[in-house]
Amino acid sequence: MNTIRNRIAVMHGVNLDQLGRRPAGHYGTLTLMQLEARVTGWAAELRMSVQFFQTNHEGAFVEELHRLEDTVDGLLLNPGAWTHYSYAIRDALEIADLPAVEVHLSDVHAREQWRRQSVIRDLCVATIAGQGPDGYREALVRLRDELGRTAA
Ligand code: DQA
Repeated sequence: MNTIRNRIAVMHGVNLDQLGRRPAGHYGTLTLMQLEARVTGWAAELRMSVQFFQTNHEGAFVEELHRLEDTVDGLLLNPGAWTHYSYAIRDALEIADLPAVEVHLSDVHAREQWRRQSVIRDLCVATIAGQGPDGYREALVRLRDELGRTAA
């Protein structure tokens, strides 16, 4: 049995493929590819392995969550606007039953009222928002700590 639990799925939801053309004041200027390259570098430093997924289709996001059991040890999720209302994604996350960290580039708590709601927050070990790309590094550290803490 593989006792090293370091495999993380980084899942981006709706509109995150458009990074680089979204308001820079909230989301910075990196494209999704550039963001993923940074995350890959941080993961290597932290001796974790990452795989990436992005879709604009809620059902595809749900189906990816269904598939992940046994292939990864933890989840780093930025579901975009779905965060705020998708009970379907919430239910799929519950089914996946993996340690998860919720990340947002922007400070969702300091924006419109509707962005303060997250329907996945209580299923996640942490929520990191408003730190831009660096929030992804912090999320990897939180996942590494969580996976170490819960190791058999
Ligand atoms: C986001 C915040 C969401 O409110 C928004 O709908 C996004 C991106 C973020 O990374 O800051 O698409 O998740």
